[in-house]
Amino acid sequence: MVAGALVATHPYGYPLPAPPLASRIRCVWGQGWRVARRWARVFEALDALHPLEPLGYLGTLGVEPSLQGRGIGTALLAHWLAGLDREATGAYLETDRRENVAFYTRSGFRVLGETEVLGARIWRMRRPAASDGRPARSVLESAPSS
Ligand SMILES: CC(C)(COP(=O)(O)OP(=O)(O)OC[C@H]1O[C@@H](n2cnc3c(N)ncnc32)[C@H](O)[C@@H]1OP(=O)(O)O)[C@@H](O)C(=O)NCCC(=O)NCCS
Repeated sequence: MVAGALVATHPYGYPLPAPPLASRIRCVWGQGWRVARRWARVFEALDALHPLEPLGYLGTLGVEPSLQGRGIGTALLAHWLAGLDREATGAYLETDRRENVAFYTRSGFRVLGETEVLGARIWRMRRPAASDGRPARSVLESAPSS
């Protein structure tokens, strides 16, 4: 079983290249044109607010529901952020869950702004680069103890 996954870009990896035409057709086919159009509007709105500076971008973080709350999400995040800290690079993410704001704040993210897209509230969060290449204190603090 996959316990959790984190998908992120490297600092110069955003914007992501457009998916191949066949994948786009599969998406429209599977979700329907209306849903695909709504997703496109979400991506366009968030893209317009994406910081211009090169930042690691957290695309997705998820933990298998039966394993949530055991430190897996924090560990995945700490591993990714430690790599960015070694490169003295900051990080950026969006979340539509209020409870996740505290989760990411514990790893050094701060709310950059809030926006509303298609009626959903979205928090945009940024984590500054570690200035001296050592892991930021917040990563060490948020790493699981076991
Ligand atoms: C958010 C998520 C990745 C956190 O991973 P995790 O392994 O459950 O988290 P950890 O055990 O490392 O840390 C627990 C903290 O996560 C936060 N959290 C958010 N949603 C949670 C959930 N459904 N279950 C448990 N903790 C959750 C809480 O702040 C919790 O802190 P607390 O114990 O003080 O309440 C995970 O709960 C998840 O996959 N949620 C659904 C998908 C999602 O929202 N992904 C993020 C998209 S931006």
